[in-house]
Amino acid sequence: MAFTYFFRDLQTLHLIRDHVIPDVRSRRYIKIWDAGCAMGPEPYSLAIVLRESMGSTFRNVKIYATDIDESGHFGEIITGGEYPYDQLKRIPKGIFERYFRENGKPDHFVIAEELRRCVEYQRHDLLSLEPIRENLALIVCKNVLLHFRKSERVNVLRMFHRALERGGYLALEQTQKLPWKVTELFEPVVANAQLFRKVEDR
Ligand SMILES: C[S@@+](CC[C@H](N)C(=O)[O-])C[C@H]1O[C@@H](n2cnc3c(N)ncnc32)[C@H](O)[C@@H]1O
Repeated sequence: MAFTYFFRDLQTLHLIRDHVIPDVRSRRYIKIWDAGCAMGPEPYSLAIVLRESMGSTFRNVKIYATDIDESGHFGEIITGGEYPYDQLKRIPKGIFERYFRENGKPDHFVIAEELRRCVEYQRHDLLSLEPIRENLALIVCKNVLLHFRKSERVNVLRMFHRALERGGYLALEQTQKLPWKVTELFEPVVANAQLFRKVEDR
């Protein structure tokens, strides 16, 4: 099983809340791609943070969560939104109480329907270099590119650049630096963080 957990990278979630959301919150459609989402804790953590900060405009958000998923089970896990309590222990108490409820299975909780509706799963291989959508407002891709060869990383990042809308955002894990071949395609949003903004091709 892929390694992941809820609220794994709170710093990036807060950067998205503080820098991306103010820019896009008035939109009718806000399309986000979580590439390499594993079993769902990452897209659901993002959905929770967005719901908390956006209120009713959260209904305009769609998170397309994708993974190559060698187990073949991520789709049913994410669509069902049911997780053992063991995986939910880190979630702050107030948030846990607002967004999770018991569903009859001992020690398991299901995430709120509003969040399940927001996250749409699809199996997808990033190395196909085919974007799942165009004109995305934000792409989140964390702890995935490190598994690829350098040339593959460059090609995937170029594909992300194509898939983003003008001025769209890209979030990588803290330790993932942009290869120099794509540094002209993205500009940092804040210093010392891996949140970038698309720069148009010159
Ligand atoms: C370490 S997990 C990271 C999960 C999540 N992004 C996080 O940071 O918590 C890496 C994920 O990348 C996925 N992955 C690996 N190669 C991939 C590929 N070529 N296309 C899409 N996903 C891939 C794996 O299946 C796994 O779920």
